[in-house]
Amino acid sequence: MRLGNTTTGYGSVAIIFHWLTALAIIGLFALGLWMVELTYYDSWYNKAPAIHKSVGLLLFVLVLLRLIWRLGNPHPEPIGESLEKRLAGSMHWLLYLFTFAVLISGYLISTAKGKPIEVFDWFAVPATVHNLPEQEDIAGLLHLWLAWGLIVLSSGHTLAALKHHFIDRDATLRRMLRFTHDK
Ligand code: HEM
Ligand code: HEM
Repeated sequence: MRLGNTTTGYGSVAIIFHWLTALAIIGLFALGLWMVELTYYDSWYNKAPAIHKSVGLLLFVLVLLRLIWRLGNPHPEPIGESLEKRLAGSMHWLLYLFTFAVLISGYLISTAKGKPIEVFDWFAVPATVHNLPEQEDIAGLLHLWLAWGLIVLSSGHTLAALKHHFIDRDATLRRMLRFTHDK
């Protein structure tokens, strides 16, 4: 199984990073919208945000590792016309940018009062920037809109992947799904 990328295909590490990140983002989005509607008497009232924050911080580490891997590896060129290729390249960076912005705003909500974030009773991440004026509310609003932005962009990205697969019938989606066995 090939671990690293080549200029024409993704290696297994990039493929695993991609699908773990996608799954975590979609899951956190749904969990986030659901958990803010819970009432104090619901048994998930404390548990759901604790899971949301813990998974979010693990995702932070995952996306950092993914970015380091991407920068240290060849990157397969997008397939298609030159405009399409440029759009795909910009979209990928925009997805990274929005992911980090959502993660950072989430961290700023949770640490607004100076409290550290417990990651599954496993380790704690300290508050660094806290007690800014209205930090919790402003970061909360940003978090919500950035999360929606990320989901809208990801949906466009998904539609583009499906267009490549079903209309253009090229290898774009296949090479993000299949592990290659050369080398
Ligand atoms: C890509 C990752 C993430 C996504 C997609 C996401 C998504 C969401 C969504 C949709 C909400 C509901 C917002 C609302 O209706 O007001 C939410 C709430 C929240 N998220 Fe995230 N989140 C992510 C990561 C994080 C991280 C890393 C943290 C903290 C470490 C975090 C902390 C929170 C908190 C504290 C709330 C509750 C905010 C409130 O009560 O208004 N999130 N998240
Ligand atoms: C929240 C969801 C998602 C995010 C944040 C995301 C993000 C990304 C990023 C950043 C890349 C660039 C490759 C890299 O840097 O390693 C990429 C590539 C790709 N993604 Fe996604 N993705 C998501 C969901 C999906 C879904 C649901 C599909 C398919 C239905 C998909 C299909 C692809 C394909 C085929 C590529 C390779 C494109 C190419 O080779 O030009 N992604 N994705």
